[in-house]
Amino acid sequence: MCGIVAYVGRKNSVPIMLEGLKRLEYRGYDSSGLALFDEDNNVKIYKKEGKLIELEKFVSNTNKDLFSTIGISHTRWATHGVVNEANAHPISDPDGTMALVHNGIIENYKDLKQNLLNKGYKFKTDTDTEVLVFLVHYYYQVEKCLTKAVQLALKVVEGTYGIAIIHRDFPGQIISAKKGSTLILAIGDNEFFITSDINATIKHTKRVIYLEDGDMVKINHEGYEIFNSDNLSINPEISEIDWDISAIDKGDFKHYMLKEIFEQPISVGNAFRGRLADELNTVRLGGLSASYSDLRNVKRIQIIGCGTSWHAALTGKYMIESLARIPVEVEYASEYRYRNPIVPDDTLVFVISQSGETADTLAALKEARAKGAKVFGITNVVGSTIARETDGGVYIHAGSEIGVASTKAFTSQVTVLALLAILLGRMRHMSPNDGLIYLEELKLIPEKIEMILAQNEQIREISKSIANCTNALYLGRGIDYPVALEGALKLKEISYIHAEGYPAAEMKHGPIALIDENMPVIALASKDFLYDKLVSNLQEVIARKGRIFAVANEGDELIATIANEVIYIPETLPSLRPLLNVIPLQLIAYHVADLKQLDVDQPRNLAKSVTVE
Ligand code: G6P
Repeated sequence: MCGIVAYVGRKNSVPIMLEGLKRLEYRGYDSSGLALFDEDNNVKIYKKEGKLIELEKFVSNTNKDLFSTIGISHTRWATHGVVNEANAHPISDPDGTMALVHNGIIENYKDLKQNLLNKGYKFKTDTDTEVLVFLVHYYYQVEKCLTKAVQLALKVVEGTYGIAIIHRDFPGQIISAKKGSTLILAIGDNEFFITSDINATIKHTKRVIYLEDGDMVKINHEGYEIFNSDNLSINPEISEIDWDISAIDKGDFKHYMLKEIFEQPISVGNAFRGRLADELNTVRLGGLSASYSDLRNVKRIQIIGCGTSWHAALTGKYMIESLARIPVEVEYASEYRYRNPIVPDDTLVFVISQSGETADTLAALKEARAKGAKVFGITNVVGSTIARETDGGVYIHAGSEIGVASTKAFTSQVTVLALLAILLGRMRHMSPNDGLIYLEELKLIPEKIEMILAQNEQIREISKSIANCTNALYLGRGIDYPVALEGALKLKEISYIHAEGYPAAEMKHGPIALIDENMPVIALASKDFLYDKLVSNLQEVIARKGRIFAVANEGDELIATIANEVIYIPETLPSLRPLLNVIPLQLIAYHVADLKQLDVDQPRNLAKSVTVE
């Protein structure tokens, strides 16, 4: 949800910022811009509507000589104001002396705007950000101190922000501040960066400071100074990033999404590596170990998330209820935070988020905490806000996920939830032998995923007959149901085909009315005690001329007589099945979108990290 890159150093900031923005484009890609100082220290703003390539072309075609050793830049995902050049950031003050980039939302912007209008300010954009810029401008006139002006302006705004500002009167300086939106100070060799995500700066340095809410940082060519919310100068610890740029390269893959799908044998392995306590046939989760007595006594679990993370949460419910017999409620963060949720004693709350930054999930975390619950995180991004705000948690270690449609993060989340289910199960009635069976099977999952990935070409062929449809139905029963939801979401997100996931038996209560020869039905026909019932549901589809694409277990001959196409996958234990079943569905969504020549990694209207409500 918008990305910021700012630079102060000895080099030209322009290529550094453009390259950094490229790495942040997943956060928003409807317009972009940058601001610099010219030779006379005037602030110059360059911005373009459309993907970053438009700004790159603009710079390389008509502004090749742009040079400034200090600059701020932004890639936008529109919240307030349509997508156009005026609403793109940086946003300027009325005198053109200042430029500001903003990630977040100013919630009380209407009232503030009215006050500013009353003072004679004339707005040129429809953004909430312009209100903040004008406030800084106003206070600067009054106080004659830019730092003070920024602080006063930030005091009156409600909402979230990560900002970076340059001003003509301070040509060697960037002021940056944050509340609610991630902002990181990256410290290089005589150069400093402000970024929304270390992806943008990892090429230059691995040394970072995660700024806290209320922090303000002033950077110039000599160094930086950080002030906390009490305006005291502080010296936070510098963290060292333990991965490098190669982790976020596309390699030989056409798209990040495909690369990430193919990384799953490794990423799933990374999610359980070092966490299997073979000697006790259980699981060791270091980030939760201090709370093992809470886990032992828990009576109810709530898992909260959004989007794909919510689907992982629902999968977790099936796993935990089955293996540990603890009731689990799964909640949309956006609903949970506002409906005064009931959090009984002995409830543990898990928030699940790939980015660790999703605004609704963060707010739900705070709500659960306000109700007195202990809240644990299941996140991917180390040091993310959710990871830091929780009482403990588990990293999924999926590595950087760049494709907007989440794939490897889902399977890693599900792997961690499987670990949690085994741990909770072993703390209760699960026998050592059953624990052993689960651990041994988990170790086989990466190679079973490899076996499915080896069918990529066949799945592409099958996808050709889905690519021209306008609707699709995904069916699954039991633990396959959340996977059906996830498969449908993947198709929707990147191919713009309307798709719905349904528990197979629910089909007859509505979706069956949609079935005709044009409707592909993607069925998860796993061999288990519900298999015969699923087959009966599929007969109902055939009777209405629907086309069936089945994901079934190797050796299932019956399904081949029913379905138009079958993708065979290895069998596994029921609770681990989502880790395999989802792979063909990810590949179908990918190939359909690619066959339609759509922008797989940056689907329209979406952003990877949704840091606004
Ligand atoms: C956005 C992304 C989804 C993601 C969801 C939740 O909608 O496009 O891929 O599942 O946010 O994100 P989180 O980072 O909290 O898992």
